[in-house]
Amino acid sequence: MRIAVVGTGYVGLVTGTCFAEVGIDVTCIDIDQKKIENLKKNILPIYEPGLEEMVARNAQKERLSFSTDLASSIQGCDVAFIAVGTPPGEDGSADLKYVLAVARSIGQNMNSYIVVVTKSTVPVGTANKVRKVIEEELEARGVDIPFDVASNPEFLKEGAAIEDFLKPDRIVVGVCSERAQEVMKKLYKPFLMNGHPLIFMDVPSAEMTKYAANAMLATKISFMNDIANLCEIMGADVNMVRKGIGSDVRIGNKFIYPGIGYGGSCFPKDVKALIRTASENGYDMKVLQSVEAVNENQKSVLYNKIHNHFNGDLAGRTFAIWGLSFKPKTDDMREAPSLVIIQKLLEQGAKVRAYDPVAMKEAQHSLGDSIEYGKDEYETLIDADALLLVTEWPEFRSPNFNVVSKLMKDKVVFDGRNIYDANDLNEKGFIYYGIGIKQ
Ligand code: UGA
Repeated sequence: MRIAVVGTGYVGLVTGTCFAEVGIDVTCIDIDQKKIENLKKNILPIYEPGLEEMVARNAQKERLSFSTDLASSIQGCDVAFIAVGTPPGEDGSADLKYVLAVARSIGQNMNSYIVVVTKSTVPVGTANKVRKVIEEELEARGVDIPFDVASNPEFLKEGAAIEDFLKPDRIVVGVCSERAQEVMKKLYKPFLMNGHPLIFMDVPSAEMTKYAANAMLATKISFMNDIANLCEIMGADVNMVRKGIGSDVRIGNKFIYPGIGYGGSCFPKDVKALIRTASENGYDMKVLQSVEAVNENQKSVLYNKIHNHFNGDLAGRTFAIWGLSFKPKTDDMREAPSLVIIQKLLEQGAKVRAYDPVAMKEAQHSLGDSIEYGKDEYETLIDADALLLVTEWPEFRSPNFNVVSKLMKDKVVFDGRNIYDANDLNEKGFIYYGIGIKQ
């Protein structure tokens, strides 16, 4: 089989590379010339564990190539994936201009039957718009070439995207013809070895499935953050409550970790977009509006604890921050709670010294020189008034607390992810603040 993947961002690059990995002939296409030149030299635009090696291996075997030329690259392809960005507009709705521009150029250039698949997260109804745009272009050319549109949402987690793609829990594909279903079945056959289902459905349901999945996960997190905040007030320990409810299989033990709010490019964007789609269609998504409000509030929870601990006297103090990315194993800084916390500290005249294993370069784009960057986690602690654990990178899980306490001015730890044990740290002479734990 031969496929084209348009858009070499996070989704497109992982998708294209993983299809190449199982022997499919893949061309990844992007209008960004610099990006394509870099990819040809194996310089990736994002950090994702294992991806660089996989790109190199498949490019070397000539199963994976990169191009800016959509017109020639889609010739003879069975499938074209659209995996370009859908940045949120000011009102929260997903901006479809890139998706539709790609559809238009496919319509202008295709010469044989092709299944055009939306992979980007797009509002319900987008595949129909894609179809119309392609039809318009074919009509303008005066040709009658059959094609199908399909929706194939991705469920990749940043930091675990390759594993998620190669061993998916499920693959959801929305189709509107037998022919497209057969093509998609053939394409995904190599990934079904572990018995996980390939679920075919109509196109709008597939589009909705993606939003419903992310909205449900975001709801779990905001719900637990609310419970955590209440635990603190009532003198309960959310770590215990989490274990208590997580062992009920109907609830499950995943995605119920309280913290400092969800971030990244997906949950915030998709929750907003779904609320927006609903309101445009006369429906009020009350639960999701609260999910969003709780999340906004949660980003300030750690800062509020700091403010209280120091009685508002933050000017001139130094805060060590461990972790900047919105979650571990990624350099993604989009909607990262660290940005909110840092901004609040800086506004109060505090000094921030941060360390992140991979996201410091990315962080510099938005934070510049407003903070200092440590060469490792220990360096950030020198004469610090407090340590803030913001992203739970594995390497921060068991630091040498003897060294930590010697380096710091004051032994105070604000743990935004509940990765340390309160009793253990108290015994070592630290004042410890977690989320949802009695102080
Ligand atoms: C999310 C979904 O998990 C993927 O299934 C989906 O494909 C993807 O969005 C997408 O739409 O592209 P991702 O944003 O990479 O993936 O990250 P997650 O691992 O889901 O974490 C999201 C946020 O939730 C992070 O800020 C994380 O710290 C937070 N979180 C997660 C919690 O606060 N508590 C938890 O228990 C779990």
